[in-house]
Amino acid sequence: MGAHLLFPTRVYEARLPAAGGGVLNARLLRECRQLRQDDAAGRRWSAGNYPSGYTSYSSAHRMHRLSPTFAALERALNRHVARFAGMLEFDLTGRALAMTDCWVNIMGRGAAHSLHLHPLSSISGTYYVSMPRAAPGLKFEDPRMERFMAAPPRAHNASRANRAWVTLPAEAGQLLLFESWLRHEVAPNPAGAERVSISFNYSWF
Ligand code: NI
Repeated sequence: MGAHLLFPTRVYEARLPAAGGGVLNARLLRECRQLRQDDAAGRRWSAGNYPSGYTSYSSAHRMHRLSPTFAALERALNRHVARFAGMLEFDLTGRALAMTDCWVNIMGRGAAHSLHLHPLSSISGTYYVSMPRAAPGLKFEDPRMERFMAAPPRAHNASRANRAWVTLPAEAGQLLLFESWLRHEVAPNPAGAERVSISFNYSWF
């Protein structure tokens, strides 16, 4: 007697190695802030679409091709994406998962990112460059949500695996990976200090 656990949803978490990670992280933070200064098109787009924040999503979204520092981050991420793909038991015979997009997000006080997924990608994720203490982590939604027709609500003390939404805390130097179809959001940043992260997509086609 028992219950089978089928179709699990995995979110991969790791820290980039402390040794090189500190130096790389400091360089990334400098370049994220520099990019905001240099990227007038991105600042304009963010003013309309990303209140209280800056993102290079629409203007400089291939940072791994433009900056050796971001290319170094890509190399570090590749190892983790390969490990995650192994956990998911992807058959990547004859094809490789490769980074297609990599962009910067700087969230000031009150900036938020509403529920979304990353279309046309396989694996997505975020590397956290600078996280003020109160800054929100990443909130994930149960991907079966739209099929919950007559499902009772979950107990208020339900285990994490059975909740409809789970927020994973994040701190500087940390990395989260998930399959790109998994919807997620970032709650408003209550901190005065900026929450700086780098998001990316990997694709296998
Ligand atoms: Ni996202």
